[in-house]
Amino acid sequence: MCGIVGFVGKHQAAPILLDGLARLEYRGYDSAGLAIRNGEEPAEVVKSKGRLKILAEKTDNGNSLVGNCGIGHTRWATHGEPSKTNAHPHVSGNCTGSGSGEVESEVVGVHNGIIENFKELKEKLLKHGYAFYSQTDTEVVVKLVDYYYKKYNTDPADAIAKTMVRVRGSYALCMMFKSHPGEIWVARKDSPMIIGVSNGETFVASDVPAILKYTRNVYYIGNMEIARLTPGEVTFFNLDGDVIEKKLTEIKWDAKSAEKGGFEHFMMKEIHEQPKAVSDTIASVVKDGRIELENIGLDEEAIKNISHIYIVACGSAYHTGVVTQYVIEDLAKIPVRVELASEFRYRKPLLDKNGLVIVVSQSGETADTLAALRLAKEKGIKTLAIVNVVGSSIAREADNVFYTLAGPEIAVATTKAYSTQLIAGYLLAIQFALVRGQIDEEKYSLLITELGTIPKKIEKILEDKERIQWFVAKQANAQDVFFIGRGIDYAVCLEGSLKMKEISYVHSEAYAAGELKHGTISLIEDGTLVIGVLTQGELYEKTVSNMVEVKSRGAYLMGLTSYGHYEIEDTANFTVYIPKTDEHFSASLSVIPLQLMGYYLSVSRGLDVDKPRNLAKSVTVE
Ligand code: G6P
Repeated sequence: MCGIVGFVGKHQAAPILLDGLARLEYRGYDSAGLAIRNGEEPAEVVKSKGRLKILAEKTDNGNSLVGNCGIGHTRWATHGEPSKTNAHPHVSGNCTGSGSGEVESEVVGVHNGIIENFKELKEKLLKHGYAFYSQTDTEVVVKLVDYYYKKYNTDPADAIAKTMVRVRGSYALCMMFKSHPGEIWVARKDSPMIIGVSNGETFVASDVPAILKYTRNVYYIGNMEIARLTPGEVTFFNLDGDVIEKKLTEIKWDAKSAEKGGFEHFMMKEIHEQPKAVSDTIASVVKDGRIELENIGLDEEAIKNISHIYIVACGSAYHTGVVTQYVIEDLAKIPVRVELASEFRYRKPLLDKNGLVIVVSQSGETADTLAALRLAKEKGIKTLAIVNVVGSSIAREADNVFYTLAGPEIAVATTKAYSTQLIAGYLLAIQFALVRGQIDEEKYSLLITELGTIPKKIEKILEDKERIQWFVAKQANAQDVFFIGRGIDYAVCLEGSLKMKEISYVHSEAYAAGELKHGTISLIEDGTLVIGVLTQGELYEKTVSNMVEVKSRGAYLMGLTSYGHYEIEDTANFTVYIPKTDEHFSASLSVIPLQLMGYYLSVSRGLDVDKPRNLAKSVTVE
């Protein structure tokens, strides 16, 4: 989704804004723009269609824009096509880009989110003499703020509050007022935004990586709150204009974790960070060989009382939910249902009052997941969030939070966050199983010990990554790829297939192996690549049979199984082996070669691995 950055302080604003925007490019990137103020001068607005580097070139990396106060934006189009005119910032005057509009404009602003009633508000403003140059909902909000500001001859906080009462939808808004030089005004509802301060300077951004280089001290602005940013200071207001006190929070992520660190792409770097992310996440709740969940509201009594578990998430986070379902049901014998958040929120779900809703989200900002969480809360069901970003909306609203310790994840295609979400699921399953008497102490210790070996085993798989690169290089022209497996292997196939299509743009499908005969098998032609995942002992022979079936119809087979199953080579044309582990945890290992396949296929096709077309890392609109 769109990325916002703002800065007011001692330094020149534009280079800082461009640097911050570059770190947010993964959120959306069809156009970009800056508005810079030099003292009392009106804002200078520069916008361009396309990648951020075009804007950087146009402004000599920001050096040509003089001024210590400014706002910037990378746009992922929702209302109106990607174009220079529709790019942010938007102004309250009647034109933009040539200079005159900015000079006459009182308000200039950038926005992330969607204003649902923008048409109705536009009608109102047209009647009051406003003219519109773009197709965006953002221009409407900026003009509405201007309208209230002038109509009531009031201050920015009041004009913004009046606007917030009128608009429906979600927004992180960042604005400057001509008559208030040296100030940035922000407002937020359901879209992410954080404010950082350091040494007499103030920053605002959609996400932490944009400002991590400058400060780790941040304020979280709440829903329906407004803030005024001046150099090194922030004042928060509620809708009534009352000042609200906020505490400064220190972010633990270090600045280096948001850099590429010698890797060509963030995705490869993040793939390699998985052993550490996994072991950090385990260490956060395993103390002296025991899993401690009391801090997240899951003491023995609470665990015993759970009647059902509902796991709700989107994308890869949903895929971890599918794995967790198998593991919890098998180990703890609690019925689990996994749902896509976008379905759950509109399905009018019947939830048991003693159930536990677990929402899973890397960003903690995914709009559908947040809505699902709110629905569960409205229904009075206990909620637990498995989240990576501290202080995110989902983390703040859930009854309890299990933080995954993946650190900042920048590549659009998730890898390390996925791996830590799996770990969180296993830890819950093991503890639930013990407390509910489904496993004894010996099994409990064995499982925890085995979990501790996962990081080393991931490292071992990564040591052999060139072999996968070699195989993938031969598949660069693949048209369709099928992933088949059963049980947990099927759940991993879902993720392997998503990785492939999202960054390589190769059509791929994950199929429960037993379902092949019900349709998909008709798509198999000579040379179609089919990847069979076989890590579950009881299901091994069955998946092999399905592989033989597709082979006899011309498929080219890759097998992904554990060391020891060497007979797979009688069937598969190419095999990847992973270390043995408890079968409940096999997804943590089998996913690694599949992540590498997606990565290498994308590279071999010359694509932008970290920023695939049309996708955004954090989907903060419906
Ligand atoms: C996007 C990302 C995926 C992610 C999904 C859910 O589609 O590209 O990698 O799995 O959103 O995001 P969340 O932040 O809720 O985990």
